[in-house]
Amino acid sequence: MKVRQACADDLATVSQLLHDTWHATYDATMGVEAVNDITSRWHSVDNLNRQLGDRDRCFLVAETPQGVIVGHASAVRQSLDSVCLSRLYVLPDRQGGGAGSALLSAVTDWAGRGTTMELEVEITNTPAIGFYQKHGFSDDGRQVQCGGDPAAGQAIVMKRQLS
Ligand SMILES: CC(C)(COP(=O)(O)OP(=O)(O)OC[C@H]1O[C@@H](n2cnc3c(N)ncnc32)[C@H](O)[C@@H]1OP(=O)(O)O)[C@@H](O)C(=O)NCCC(=O)NCCS
Repeated sequence: MKVRQACADDLATVSQLLHDTWHATYDATMGVEAVNDITSRWHSVDNLNRQLGDRDRCFLVAETPQGVIVGHASAVRQSLDSVCLSRLYVLPDRQGGGAGSALLSAVTDWAGRGTTMELEVEITNTPAIGFYQKHGFSDDGRQVQCGGDPAAGQAIVMKRQLS
């Protein structure tokens, strides 16, 4: 699995990947209408394009040796020693194949040692919570609205100090 910086030509594929993976992950808890609403706003090509140009953000894709994009991660630097992992998504039929771990490792390299990485994970998303625990994150005890958006569900906040 290769992880690389995304480019403008990838954005339509990343937008579709996020649309498909959001429906597979959240339809049961948030409902199809809410997921359609959120993903069309958050993951539009225009919005992704703005994020791609942000110098404080890392914007990565994971692709197969054949060049098929199967996963995407993005993180934002909040301060010198703090980074927020804002997205980590792997296509439903590619999950469990190492793409998520490869993307997380690349984001960790980008963030650098000594940084605290923080993320939100929807409270019923037990597989993802297990995945993050396995990668050294722990629940910091806070519960928030996913992405600060009232249309989205509740999330727990997880943190890891990178060493
Ligand atoms: C969570 C996610 C990013 C992990 O990426 P992935 O490519 O599936 O994970 P990996 O293949 O790198 O798996 C790493 C480990 O986590 C475990 N794991 C991953 N996904 C799992 C799942 N859905 N259920 C149970 N275990 C899972 C694997 O068993 C693996 O352990 P192993 O290496 O000992 O076998 C991916 O499954 C995903 O996109 N899920 C849906 C969207 C989501 O919830 N994103 C996170 C939002 S905060």
